[in-house]
Amino acid sequence: MIQLVKNFSLTDFNTFGIHAQAKAFVSVRSIEELKEALKLNFEKRFILGGGSNILLTKDIEGLVIHNAIKGIEVVKEDKNAYEVFVSVGAGENWHHLVVYCLENGWGGIENLALIPGNVGTAPIQNIGAYGVELKDVFHTCTAINRKTLETKTFTLEDCQFGYRESVFKNEVKGQYVITSVTLKLTTANHKLHTQYGAISDTLLEEEITMPSIQEVAAAVIKIRQSKLPDPKKIGNSGSFFKNPMISQNEFKQLRERFEAIPFYPVGNGMVKVPAGWLIEQAGFKGKRFGEAGVHDKQALVLINHGSATGKAIWDLAQRILATVKETFDIVLQTEVNII
Ligand code: EPU
Repeated sequence: MIQLVKNFSLTDFNTFGIHAQAKAFVSVRSIEELKEALKLNFEKRFILGGGSNILLTKDIEGLVIHNAIKGIEVVKEDKNAYEVFVSVGAGENWHHLVVYCLENGWGGIENLALIPGNVGTAPIQNIGAYGVELKDVFHTCTAINRKTLETKTFTLEDCQFGYRESVFKNEVKGQYVITSVTLKLTTANHKLHTQYGAISDTLLEEEITMPSIQEVAAAVIKIRQSKLPDPKKIGNSGSFFKNPMISQNEFKQLRERFEAIPFYPVGNGMVKVPAGWLIEQAGFKGKRFGEAGVHDKQALVLINHGSATGKAIWDLAQRILATVKETFDIVLQTEVNII
């Protein structure tokens, strides 16, 4: 039986810790409960996962369905290929899954340790960090059509993963609720990704030359904890903007003016530049504007000093957008979903 709560506070359900209300709220623990909730007569419905990638700038005038479908299950193991297929409920916390996999000796998501949010939202923005993205371990996901209530399985190809992008943010936006994700992990002969500068530096510092998946995860956790604020202590949503891609030509011109600009060539004649660097150069790192601010160790992270409204954070984001546009002629795009 689902329980509908009216005028529900979402403060504990968004990692920015913004005070906002849902007109109605229901938490669902199974596909049956999800279908029941989707049948309720509301004009607007909003699906909530871990609340780690949203900025609530206003109250939600509809039904919030909190996806709390749990469970981690091995669906197939190929001992010869050292492969294991693990199906995970959308409502499982992502980092808990990483820890569970490490405890079982399953490799593939160790670089994605400590990413906030739930498993069900991971495919929507193809979460990534330190040289690994969800798409590298993704096998399939199942989802319920919000209108017909039919189940659909999305393959890797169907998902059209890109940099913080997927079909769920584009062609089928707002049409499905992801209920489970199946990952393809390794049980031995793990393919480690330690080439990312900060990881190799951390391992070197600790004199680890042949790291285990647990040691790679420990390095990632150490780096993240040194740069990214813990949402339990300081409200935030991780990277607020995406790293922009610009053409080789634009990049050449920019580099003439800013010699030290870090960059990553991404093919197709495009270059990715770190938004954190642009924001720092624009003078915002560590700055505070009332209750809203920019993190002092990573300028890409906007923070709530305690009682910021969603609008105050959004105003700061607009100010950053305008200054970065003025200084570098680059228009940043938000990574966080603005509600
Ligand atoms: N930088 C600065 N100043 C800053 C922040 C960064 O100069 O204030 C420079 C760094 O020195 C470095 C470059 O920018 O040269 C990149 O910084 P970093 O390695 O910290 O990574 P990022 O590009 O800022 C991305 C992801 C993060 C992910 C890290 C590590 C995006 C939008 N963000 O950040 O993802 O953890 O790489 O792989 O792609 C998230 O999506 O919420 C997130 C935290």
